[in-house]
Amino acid sequence: MSFKSDFLTEERGNSQSVSLFDRSPGTAKPFLKWAGGKGQLLNQFKKYYPKQLKQGMLKTYYEPFLGSGAVFFDVAQRYNIERAFLFDINEELILTYQVIQNDVSKLLEYLDSYQKNYLKLDKKKRQEFYYEQRSSYNLQRFSIDYEHYSEEWLPRAAQLIFLNRTCFNGLYRVNASGAFNAPAGDYNNPKIYDEQNLLAVHQILQIAEIKIADFKEVTHYITDNSFVYLDPPYRPISKTANFNSYSKSRFADLEQIQLASLFRKLDQSGIQLMLSNSDPKNNNPLDHFFDELYDGFIIHRIPAKRMINSDASKRGAINEIIVTNYPCS
Ligand SMILES: C[S@@+](CC[C@H](N)C(=O)[O-])C[C@H]1O[C@@H](n2cnc3c(N)ncnc32)[C@H](O)[C@@H]1O
Repeated sequence: MSFKSDFLTEERGNSQSVSLFDRSPGTAKPFLKWAGGKGQLLNQFKKYYPKQLKQGMLKTYYEPFLGSGAVFFDVAQRYNIERAFLFDINEELILTYQVIQNDVSKLLEYLDSYQKNYLKLDKKKRQEFYYEQRSSYNLQRFSIDYEHYSEEWLPRAAQLIFLNRTCFNGLYRVNASGAFNAPAGDYNNPKIYDEQNLLAVHQILQIAEIKIADFKEVTHYITDNSFVYLDPPYRPISKTANFNSYSKSRFADLEQIQLASLFRKLDQSGIQLMLSNSDPKNNNPLDHFFDELYDGFIIHRIPAKRMINSDASKRGAINEIIVTNYPCS
């Protein structure tokens, strides 16, 4: 089935398929598969990063919609970033990043035990195991204190990584009450974790402040000489496409409008800004939503591939928009 191979490989630039874990040693890459993840667009993104970043003059990086952190890992390892502020409204995601930042060795022990226990099971037992883990994960969310780091966070972070690596299509999806509801996947030999990558992620996260936050909070932290990359939930490209279910809170046109005013406000403080979203013109050439919201800034359109859709026929070539408040060479 196509989703099996999609999970273990990702398309890169010239449609060459490579393993998610093929990379030079010591290079940190996303450890979760995340809807809207920018891993496949990094080669194209390079062109749109600010010149001052490439020249080593911007040393602080902000990413208020962190997700799998593909752009953070790329920028932080490619350029001269000394400090990063990584925020997301999804408390489970932030909990997991904080565990990797603080306690990666113990996390690896939990993951190793998942790997051993899960891989020795037959297909039917793996499904049962997955649904048991999903139920306990959902039940425990009512008793977790997401604000204060504790030992309890370790098994929870391991459980999230396990569920992400073994669920259908690797999709993190919650229902309206916040329960994780992705069904079990069916992979022959899923790699639950990559030790070298998690160690590299731990290392690079030492420069980061990681926080559960709504995107508007970023303004309290921003300093001069910084670069902000904004990758909000996509504005759905069709009525049936739904990429907004990362968390129980919604991200509709109102939030896109609020984000555009934040963009304008930050622009006035001389911050270098780059924002990405799906292009509504993919579906309706007359939909000028983002062209109007970001009027006066530079809007680029680049080809992208939508990988996460349970219907393989709906994963195809579409445009993504990139908005910058600086010219790109
Ligand atoms: C398109 S994804 C980011 C993907 C990321 N760039 C990557 O490469 O994986 C959007 C992220 O925004 C987060 N989010 C949704 N609403 C938010 C809000 N109001 N404030 C901050 N983050 C939010 C979601 O939890 C999700 O992780």
